[in-house]
Amino acid sequence: MQQRSFGFIGAGRVARILLGGFRRVGRMPGNIVAADTDQKVLEKLIAEFPEVTPALNGNRVAATQEIVFLALHPPAISQALEEIEESLQADAILISLAPRWTLARLAEKLGGFPRITRMIPNAPSLVNDGFNPVAFAPAYPVKEREEILTFLRLLGECPQVSEEKLEAYAMLTAMGPTYFWFQMEELASLGGTFGLSEEEAWRGIVAMTEGSAYILRNSGLSPEQIMDLVPVKPLAEDEDVIRSIYRNRLEPLFRKIRPQ
Ligand SMILES: NC(=O)c1ccc[n+]([C@@H]2O[C@H](COP(=O)([O-])OP(=O)(O)OC[C@H]3O[C@@H](n4cnc5c(N)ncnc54)[C@H](OP(=O)(O)O)[C@@H]3O)[C@@H](O)[C@H]2O)c1
Repeated sequence: MQQRSFGFIGAGRVARILLGGFRRVGRMPGNIVAADTDQKVLEKLIAEFPEVTPALNGNRVAATQEIVFLALHPPAISQALEEIEESLQADAILISLAPRWTLARLAEKLGGFPRITRMIPNAPSLVNDGFNPVAFAPAYPVKEREEILTFLRLLGECPQVSEEKLEAYAMLTAMGPTYFWFQMEELASLGGTFGLSEEEAWRGIVAMTEGSAYILRNSGLSPEQIMDLVPVKPLAEDEDVIRSIYRNRLEPLFRKIRPQ
């Protein structure tokens, strides 16, 4: 796929994640326009990616590019779609990164624009190790799908899934890192009190976390068998509480982000 220009509607965290991933593999296009309503957010993006052209309140300019990433939270999307409808080029590709807004609803708001994809990326895309499920609008030309998938796979794994599953992935794989990172940070801090330097603690924690995932994928054991490999479980008495915290927090949020 040729280097097509990028437009970002919303220049926040997920824009930085995706741009970081593309830059890391040398696949930044010559022309990138990022629009946001917040000047500080644009300044932060430009500090990291000086090649990006900032567009304050410039969704229409961003929408004239060849690949347009819709990188807004769901409540901001309706108005943004009204703004950009006239600016989208007939052969542009719109990639929505948001939950809740279905392909059908996006297309309807855009007057039937057919070339829409949804992707739920995750933060490891920054280092090209993301897990980013993708769903295409039915009207998206079938013969062009593999081409855009090949391009998106620069960011990591991009399984094609049925659209109804995207919000479940948002809960598990997009927000998933936030469930673990703070616990790793707490462990690193405890490592300090146990006599490890910060570097020693983080090195051990990262290796342990990678290994804990690797064993799930590669041992051939079931999750139950793996969890039984270590008999001393200092948090065992708290597990029920932690599991109920997961249920109490995640189930209502899933209901909220799921399309109605
Ligand atoms: N970050 C991730 O890892 C991740 C992963 C998967 C999916 N996503 C999805 O990606 C979308 C964006 O998330 P994010 O993490 O990038 O959030 P973010 O860091 O908050 O960035 C969103 C940006 O959009 C700006 N904005 C609000 N209304 C706008 C408008 N009408 N036009 C242009 N810009 C506007 C926001 O400004 P204000 O803050 O001033 O409102 C903010 O700077 C969300 O739907 C999220 O669910 C994110």
